[in-house]
Amino acid sequence: MQLSGTVALVTGGSSGIGAATARALATAGVRPLLAGRDPGRLQAVARETGGLALAADLATADGPAVLAEAATQAAGPDGIDVLINNAGIGWAGPIEQMTAEQAANLIAVDLTAPIQLTRLLVPGMAARGHGHVVFVSSIAGATGVRGEAVYSAAKAGLGCFAESLASELAGRGVGVSVIVPGVIDTPFFEHRGRPYDRRRPAPLPAQRVAHALVRAIEREQGMVFVPRWMRLPAWLHGALPGTYRRLAGRFG
Ligand SMILES: NC(=O)c1ccc[n+]([C@@H]2O[C@H](COP(=O)([O-])OP(=O)(O)OC[C@H]3O[C@@H](n4cnc5c(N)ncnc54)[C@H](OP(=O)(O)O)[C@@H]3O)[C@@H](O)[C@H]2O)c1
Repeated sequence: MQLSGTVALVTGGSSGIGAATARALATAGVRPLLAGRDPGRLQAVARETGGLALAADLATADGPAVLAEAATQAAGPDGIDVLINNAGIGWAGPIEQMTAEQAANLIAVDLTAPIQLTRLLVPGMAARGHGHVVFVSSIAGATGVRGEAVYSAAKAGLGCFAESLASELAGRGVGVSVIVPGVIDTPFFEHRGRPYDRRRPAPLPAQRVAHALVRAIEREQGMVFVPRWMRLPAWLHGALPGTYRRLAGRFG
């Protein structure tokens, strides 16, 4: 896809991977519409990228619809060309310590909101015969991670949603990409309330994901792992689940 001159809605544009993606898109000549809850951080990224800040809480029942409407108005008559479903929250700990509200909130932001935004915005792209939708998943959604069962489930659901959608949209001018990051150096861990405490793999800068994401749109890539070697645990999990489970039990 030729990105220059297009309009992209980036959820989670106020921080981490979303803010880095907005910068990379602006460099590629894209006008970013930045969604998040923190108006100050959104405005700062908007100023830096020539974008527009759209505050919305994606955990609420009408949050995705309110955002889709505001973004459609802001995009103008040619509509939104690219939807980047990046906003997400984590939660880590034993499942019995997670409250019903925390689980519902996580599913709302990480899974329901991308589904609703896609349902509201992608049919317009298909009607125009032109567009791209990106889902920022996680290696947790490809393999499952101990202590992150609900987060892993939400990201696995997102991956399956994207695969089904790609098949449904084939030949209609709308591309679908899934980005699968490993460990990335962003405020994600601080926001989830539990720091990343492993020595390996070392966290990568958010720009690595942003550049891979922009390239995935330009090259119409279906699934991209960041870093690339992360495809190995995902492959092992799919091909040899018993072996994967034994190794994960030993090394975490
Ligand atoms: N960092 C990692 O290691 C890693 C690894 C794999 C996948 N990921 C995924 O990458 C994506 C981006 O995460 P990040 O690392 O950049 O984390 P981050 O810095 O914490 O950014 C999360 C973004 O999501 C937005 N957000 C959270 N709750 C929201 C809500 N209720 N309504 C609207 N927006 C909301 C935040 O906006 P406000 O703060 O303005 O509300 C923020 O812009 C997430 O989907 C995450 O699951 C991250």
